[in-house]
Order: sequence, then C-alpha cells, then structure tokens
Amino acid sequence: MEMGFYFYSVCCFLVIFSKASMASDTISPSESLTGGMTLVSNDGTFALGFFSPGTSGNHYLGIWYNNIPMQTVVWVANRLNPINDSTGLLKIETSGRIVLQVQNTTTAVWSTNKTASARNPVLQLLDSGNLVVRDGEDSNPENYLWQSFDYPTDTMLPGMKIGVDLRTGFDRRLSAWKNWADPSPGDLVYGVELEGSPEMVLWKGLQKYSRSGLWIGNGFSGAPNSGLSWIFDYKFVWNENEVYYICFFKNNSVRSRVVLNQTDSARERYAWNPETQTWQQTLAMPTDYCDGYERCGLNGICDNNNLPSYCQCLTGFMPKWPERWNSSDYSGGCIHSKPLDCQNGDGFIRIRNVKTPDTTNSWVSTSMNLKKCRDECLTNCSCMAYTNFDVTRGGSGCVMWFGDLIDVKQLQTEGQDLYIRVPASETEVKKKSKVKLAIILATLIAPFLGFLLVFCYICRSRRKLKDEVEDKNLSDKENKEENEDMELAVFEFGTIAQATDSFSFRNKLGEGGFGLVYKGTLPNGQEIGVKRLSKSSGQGLTEFKNEVKLIAKLQHRNLVRLLGCCIHEDERMLVYEYMPNRSLDSFIFDQTKRAVLTWPKRFQIICGIARGLLYLHQDSRLRIIHRDLKTSNVLLDSEMNPKISDFGLARAFGRDQTEANTNRVVGTYGYMAPEYAIDGQFSVKSDVFSFGILLLEIISGRKNRGFYLADQSNNLIEHAWRLWKEDKPLVLAGDFLVESGDLSELLRCIHIGLLCVQQHPEERPSMSTLVVMLVSRNELPTPKQPGFLFYKKPFEADCSSGNDGPSSRNEISLSVLEAR
Ligand SMILES: *[C@@H]1O[C@H](CO)[C@@H](O)[C@H](O)[C@H]1NC(C)=O
Ligand SMILES: *[C@@H]1O[C@H](CO)[C@@H](O)[C@H](O)[C@H]1NC(C)=O
Ligand SMILES: *[C@@H]1O[C@H](CO)[C@@H](O)[C@H](O)[C@H]1NC(C)=O
Ligand SMILES: *[C@@H]1O[C@H](CO)[C@@H](O)[C@H](O)[C@H]1NC(C)=O
Ligand SMILES: *[C@@H]1O[C@H](CO)[C@@H](O)[C@H](O)[C@H]1NC(C)=O
Ligand SMILES: *[C@@H]1O[C@H](CO)[C@@H](O)[C@H](O)[C@H]1NC(C)=O
Ligand SMILES: *[C@@H]1O[C@H](CO)[C@@H](O)[C@H](O)[C@H]1NC(C)=O
Repeated sequence: MEMGFYFYSVCCFLVIFSKASMASDTISPSESLTGGMTLVSNDGTFALGFFSPGTSGNHYLGIWYNNIPMQTVVWVANRLNPINDSTGLLKIETSGRIVLQVQNTTTAVWSTNKTASARNPVLQLLDSGNLVVRDGEDSNPENYLWQSFDYPTDTMLPGMKIGVDLRTGFDRRLSAWKNWADPSPGDLVYGVELEGSPEMVLWKGLQKYSRSGLWIGNGFSGAPNSGLSWIFDYKFVWNENEVYYICFFKNNSVRSRVVLNQTDSARERYAWNPETQTWQQTLAMPTDYCDGYERCGLNGICDNNNLPSYCQCLTGFMPKWPERWNSSDYSGGCIHSKPLDCQNGDGFIRIRNVKTPDTTNSWVSTSMNLKKCRDECLTNCSCMAYTNFDVTRGGSGCVMWFGDLIDVKQLQTEGQDLYIRVPASETEVKKKSKVKLAIILATLIAPFLGFLLVFCYICRSRRKLKDEVEDKNLSDKENKEENEDMELAVFEFGTIAQATDSFSFRNKLGEGGFGLVYKGTLPNGQEIGVKRLSKSSGQGLTEFKNEVKLIAKLQHRNLVRLLGCCIHEDERMLVYEYMPNRSLDSFIFDQTKRAVLTWPKRFQIICGIARGLLYLHQDSRLRIIHRDLKTSNVLLDSEMNPKISDFGLARAFGRDQTEANTNRVVGTYGYMAPEYAIDGQFSVKSDVFSFGILLLEIISGRKNRGFYLADQSNNLIEHAWRLWKEDKPLVLAGDFLVESGDLSELLRCIHIGLLCVQQHPEERPSMSTLVVMLVSRNELPTPKQPGFLFYKKPFEADCSSGNDGPSSRNEISLSVLEAR
C-alpha cells in the first residue's frame, strides 16, 4: 500500500514534468492553467499546478518544490473542495479574482475575493513559493493585492508570517493535512495565542497540545536555543499592529520548511539534503514528553529527567490528591502546601531554567524591570508568579501570572527563571532542606578487567537542589555559604608565570576552544596544567569567579580536577592537575603509541569516560552538557585513567556563542550531533552522539572527520554502519584489537556506538542506560541508520592536525558546513 502510493506519486510527478510547462511564472487574464501545465517560479524553485495525492483520484491545485525528486507540496488552494478528474482550470479575472473551476463549467471550485482595483492584474509564482496577485502596472512589485502566504496550509516557508494582524483581526494559522492522501484540514493547528502575553501554540482540536513558552528576545522559553540555527533564523514580532512568527533563510543554498504532521501529531522542521536527496528532520514540537501540554496538572512541573514519574509539584506546592498522584494520575495537580499570607508578607522562590507557564492568565509589561515586577506582584495578592523575559535587552520586561500555573517544564539549561509566590515561612524551610546527593557505587565483575564500577544514583531530590531561594535577606546568607565551601585556590600571576617559564613555547601543551594550555611546575614541585583563556569572553570578575567556583565543585575521578584560577588584569587562567600522558588522541591515532592501548585498556577508558559524562549529566549539581566531547578533550593520567577536560567551559565562557544572532556553535566538527550542528539544539543527547563518535574512534583508531576510504564512506559512522549492515562489524576494529580483545565486548561497544549516533536524539540511549549497557549482557536495541548524512567528506580545512594543534579551532561557522 505504502509502496503503491510511492510509485503512484512518482509516476504522477513524472507525468506532470514531462508535459510542457508554461515556462513562465505569471498568468494574465487572457491565459489559463490546466491539468498537466505548471507555472514555475523564476529561479525554478517552486512550481504551481495540479496534483493528485494518494489513489483517490482527487485533483488539487497546489505549489510544490519544482526540482527535487520527491513531491513535496507546500500549499493547496482547494483543499476543501477537490476536483474528481483532471479537468481543472485556473485563471485570473480582470477584477483580480483568481478562479479555479472545472473546464467548460462556470461554477468556481475555489476562488479568491475581488481585490482592490487593478489595471492589469497578473498572477505570479515567486521564488519564495508565494503565489501573488499584483498589478502589472504598479511600479512597486511588492505591492500584493492577494498572496497565498496569507492563507497558509500545513507548511511554513521562510518569509511567511504565522500570526495575527491586530488591526483587522486577520489570523494566519497552519493546519495539517488530514492524512498523506487528503489535504483537507486535520485537527492539528499552529498559531499565535493572543490572550495574556502572546506565544505560539500547537492545538489538537480545541485542546492546546504544545506551547512555545514566552518569547524571551532570542528564542522561546520552551526552546531557548533553537534560534541558533545555521540554516534558519526566526523572529517573533509583537508590536501594536501585529503579532507573528516568521523565519528566514540564513543561507539560501539550503532548503528548509516547517510542516504540521497530523500522523506524527507534531510540527516538524525539515532541511533538504542534496546528497542523499531526502528531507531530513531537524526539529520537532513537541520535542519530548514534557513538551506535551499540562502533563502534570495545575501547579505541577514536568521534568524529562525525573524518571519514571516525570511530574512533581512546583516548590511550595503538594499533590491535591496524594493517592492518585502516587499512581501516576496527575490530573488533580497541586495545591499550596501552606496557605499564603498576603497581608503579612509572602516571599518568592526562584526556579531556574523552566519553560514559563501558560500565559492565558498572565499580564505583561515590556518595560518593567525585575525588581519592579517583584514589587508589583507582591502587592497584588492574586499574583502567583513573575518573570522577566527580554534577554536581548538585559532582561527587561515583566510577566505576572494570576491563579494556577499551568504547563511548566523543567529544562536542562538556559530556560527562564520563574519566581513563585510562597509564604514567607516556606522560603526559610526551603533553605535548610538542601539535600546532598547520594551516590552509591555498585561493583560488577567484567571479564579481563576484574572490577568495574557502575553508578547507581538517587536522583529523587535532584531538582530540589536547583531550586533556590530568592529573597532579600536570604540571598546574602547564600553568598556567605558559597564563600564558605569555596576551596578554590587563587594563584598569583607571578607564580603562574614562573611555573610556566613565562608561558614559554616549550611548555605549550596544546590549544583548545577557550585558549592555550601550558605545562607548569609550582615551586613545591607539583606539576600543573594552565589554561590561559582567550580574552574575548568579556565576562565580569564576579561572574568569572562564580563560574569557576561552580566548575571546581564538579569532582569525579573521571574529570580533570580544577585546582584554582588566576586573575591578572583582564587575563583569566584556570589551573588544573597535570596529566602526564596528555590526551587520548595522541595514543589512538598514533601508529606506534596505539599499541599501548590494548582492548582491555581501551574498554576501561570507554567506561571511565562514560562515568564521567554520566556524572556531568545527572549526578553533579549543575547538570552540565559538555558540548565538545572529543578524543583531545580526554586526558590520561599516569595509569591511563581517562579524565574529561574542558567541561563546564561552554557554560561559563561560551555564553556569547549561544546567542541567536551569531553563527557560531561551540563544538567540533565531526563530533556534533545533527540537531546541534543544524539547529543549535543541544542536550544531553547531543553529548551522547559525540560519545558515540568517540567510541567508534577508539575502536577503529580512525578519526570521524577527515575520514577517507575506498568503500565510498564519507565518514567513520557511515563506514561503521556499512560494515554493520554487511554483517562484518569487527572489521572496524582491525586485527590488532581483535587479537587483544574479548570479541563479544568489542562487538557490544560497536553496537552501542551505533546506538549513540542515531539520527533522532530520543533514539539514543541516555548516559545512565549506556553505562549499564556497557557492562551488562542484556540484549541491545537494534540500531537504525545513523545520523551521519549531513557530514561531508574530506574536510580539508580542518583535519590536518593530529593533535589539538593550532588549526583545530573549536568553533566552526556556517561556511564550513555549507561546503556543498
Ligand atoms: C465528478 O463530479 C461531477 C460533479 O460533481 C459529477 O457529475 C461526476 O459524476 C463526477 N465524476 C466521477 C468520476 O465521480
Ligand atoms: C471543453 O470544451 C471544448 C470546446 O467545446 C472541448 O474541446 C473540450 O474537450 C472540453 N473539455 C472538457 C474537459 O470537456
Ligand atoms: C472572502 O471574503 C470573505 C468575507 O470577507 C471571507 O470570509 C473569506 O474568507 C474570503 N475568502 C478568501 C479566499 O479570501
Ligand atoms: C509525517 O511523518 C511521517 C512519518 O513520521 C512521514 O512519512 C510523512 O511524510 C510526514 N508528513 C509530512 C507532511 O511531512
Ligand atoms: C505514596 O507512595 C510512597 C512510596 O511508594 C508512600 O511512602 C506513601 O505513603 C504514598 N502516599 C500515599 C498517600 O499513598
Ligand atoms: C491584581 O491584578 C489583577 C489582574 O491584573 C487585577 O484584576 C486585580 O484588580 C489586582 N488586584 C489588586 C488588589 O490590585
Ligand atoms: C551560503 O552557502 C554557499 C555555498 O554553500 C556559500 O558559498 C556562501 O558563503 C553561504 N552564504 C552565507 C551568507 O553564509
């Protein structure tokens, strides 16, 4: 059936193109378009004509991509009223009205309204995919009397506005096709929700299905990084005349579209990959379970990492019906655990990194600052929470919520901070109940190795750690506390300069994303590694110290230990423990040194890296996404134990690089997950992707980037996948490892490596699953085709240096990806 459809639609497609097209992009009142004819936009990107989806025999007038071999319809005129044979005829009347009718009849199947008077109306298909009516004698060609972009169907193209004209009330929304063969509107709709502070909403029928969260100036609070796309840029415009969402191409050489998919119940973004000749999905909404609307009832908060229940009550709240809550029925939501006492003063608790609540019961001011916002909220007893939102203008803007808080989602990084009203007494209690994380080590036996440690962790109270009290007098106390548990040494500049022989070239160990690394010896003989941060970060002194303190708190045997820092004028340096065996890449890619790392040793290294990453993702207080995991960032101590370096730096010093208005993504080409490289979406799962590459590199001794082999594979992933499909996966490892290793363990690691590099983040295992997978003998899921497709072959610009040499910049820009 599916195949049948495919065959049919391909034939249909060929037929359309084999017929003479009008070779023109306009129709004037003396012309008409009938079945088999097409109108092609000036640059050949789009075509307008009749098509017939599925096997119904119904014919529709539509617009599709003209020169790609997979019929992709982006707009349909008569979606409600198909023509049952191929006798459709399109014309434009002298009044400017477009009419679609059946030949030799007079009744319109579909038509537009009369336009403002035009002397010489023409219908034109533009290169943007917009079908417009304009006056041929109007000197301004952008003066459209009618445009299809005002009547979107299921697809949003760059330049199209989705939203409301506040002057006329005209609302442009997307609505999905009912199914792949029926363009009539399904029940999935995407548009602007105007009530309260406006935001984008996906509806299913009359119900909200997923929300974007507040627009915070450079993205939506529910997806704070998705503005950072190399292909796509978007804006949410809100002024007295209009509220709309619009996107643009950053580079016209990549085709991209957003489409509502009724089958998947999702809004999906695709980019065309000319190499594989397929559409590649780069983003979807809802993104994950917690993106679904109101998963946890009123005043609940949904956290994808809080398995298995997902739901918790917001701080200061408790389940309304605890028994039902216990059996995973969250519909009752949560109520205040202690009554508010507005007269005698309430306080606020800050919850970090959330998708803000549904704004229908909110009030908004674009100019009020955070302090004013808090004061106003405090004086109005029905105000339950507030936030400020415009990060592009230093966080101006104030939103207050009245009544229950609905659909709050916990994000991992970079969401909004939400301040929730609680009784004053509650802010005190909260402070005392800081819970320390318990880590239990369980011991398992693994062949060849003896012992292996697996982490079990208790994550129950993890989120509570992140909630922090925000109250006038309490924040001082907090500062004091932070100073007390600060064990970080601050080194004198003179000491460091002496230790490194004034940063002499001989002591240079390498260069990473954030600066040069030197070896040094302190007067007491202790060897250190010094990272001299590049000066560009522009970060203040206090901010710098705070971040360093946070990083210093991350301690794990598979993380490089930060010993201290050094601040000298505008220079900042980080001092680490010294790793005598340098980095992993200096072994595995080196023809002679690689022999040191036999398979048992490599397996030990793999497990160590996995545990270090698991700690960063789940067990550390900060929940760090590394974002630049690669072999040169894995250092080896004297016993060849792996230690991850550069963790937390992206968070601390790469902040400016994650803003929507730059083209830069922190990370290294060859290790980045597709959704990160393309859309700037990073998550723990993009780290898992990088881990997968690392795994394949450790096994194969080859680099993913700069990979070249006679079997036509563009990169290591593709090569590994090919061998996997050809049922000879061990070829990847090469004779040396196969001889030194436990084959089933080796095979298992290849298998896990492929699972890590799956196209869709949700198909990749989490680090906790992965750590278990490494040592257990349970059956693993079957990998699908990995997400290697966007990687290009030989990567001349950047693959020459074997080590972390000067040419290996950790930042790449658009032009690198788009070398097609
Ligand atoms: C197509 O529709 C016309 C008018 O609605 C009807 O007269 C005709 O019988 C239909 N043809 C087929 C093949 O269903
Ligand atoms: C419409 O009428 C013209 C002229 O009478 C005829 O040639 C043509 O075949 C008719 N088309 C259809 C679809 O009936
Ligand atoms: C034509 O105008 C009517 C009334 O103003 C409106 O309801 C309808 O949607 C318009 N149709 C189109 C195709 O613009
Ligand atoms: C919706 O998703 C399905 C499978 O996930 C895919 O086959 C189909 O092409 C998608 N539809 C659209 C309109 O993109
Ligand atoms: C909910 O479950 C927990 C642990 O399973 C139990 O300790 C508690 O008593 C339960 N509460 C209610 C109200 O059933
Ligand atoms: C509190 O704010 C709400 C919503 O803006 C408003 O309706 C109400 O009058 C305010 N109450 C007070 C006491 O200011
Ligand atoms: C767009 O891509 C092309 C080729 O892929 C490249 O030459 C061009 O520099 C890119 N433009 C921008 C603005 O990045």
